Amino acid sequence: MRILVVGATGLLGKEIVGLLSSDHDVIGASRKGSAIAVDISRKESVVAMYMQAQPLDAVVCVAGTARFAPLDTLADDDFAFSLANKLMGQVNLVRCGISSIKQGGSITLTSGVLAHHPIAGSAVVSIVNAGVEAFAHAAALELKDRLRVNVVSPGWVAETLEAMGRNPNDGVRASVVAHAFRKCVEEDITGQVVSATH
Ligand SMILES: NC(=O)c1ccc[n+]([C@@H]2O[C@H](COP(=O)([O-])OP(=O)(O)OC[C@H]3O[C@@H](n4cnc5c(N)ncnc54)[C@H](OP(=O)(O)O)[C@@H]3O)[C@@H](O)[C@H]2O)c1
Repeated sequence: MRILVVGATGLLGKEIVGLLSSDHDVIGASRKGSAIAVDISRKESVVAMYMQAQPLDAVVCVAGTARFAPLDTLADDDFAFSLANKLMGQVNLVRCGISSIKQGGSITLTSGVLAHHPIAGSAVVSIVNAGVEAFAHAAALELKDRLRVNVVSPGWVAETLEAMGRNPNDGVRASVVAHAFRKCVEEDITGQVVSATH
């Protein structure tokens, strides 16, 4: 398969590229440092990315940001930024990908544990992650004869916990999370949220 990994230079992206590259032709995309430059928060950039990368059998997105801060400090811009980035960025990857991904291909998005297990400071992140999952369920229904749409929901990643000075044993290794993405790419599933937790 010819697979585009958006967010290829990140913690999860590097593991996914490494895992998929043994069996597939993998192309990386991100804002900087990948074969294809894209900013998923700008729809015109997503359209240009597909023009450059197509034809594709599968797309994996592990890119996108949402702001983490106490509710009473979140400004309008924090909501607007986060919705435009990790939520609408991934929604637009599906909308714009319909004509660039081959019939029967797949797109796999990323949410996160904070969709259903919020913590203080996660208000925007929780909205975004839950929105990604709700969108994928709905889009998969409409695209069922055209394209598979799934989401991987990682728990806290061990390497991220380590970088935050927390106990990595409370998290799941990035190399383990990568297998959930491979499942979504290679297995005939759609409309699923695949958890990758500790
Ligand atoms: N790490 C965790 O503990 C954890 C837990 C649950 C969920 N997640 C989710 O998993 C995803 C990946 O996490 P990660 O830890 O691997 O992140 P990361 O290490 O920060 O990597 C993010 C990747 O996405 C790219 N990127 C960021 N913004 C982009 C944009 N607007 N357009 C295109 N590319 C963009 C980055 O490269 P450039 O900066 O060059 O664009 C990089 O390649 C995120 O959605 C995150 O919320 C992570």
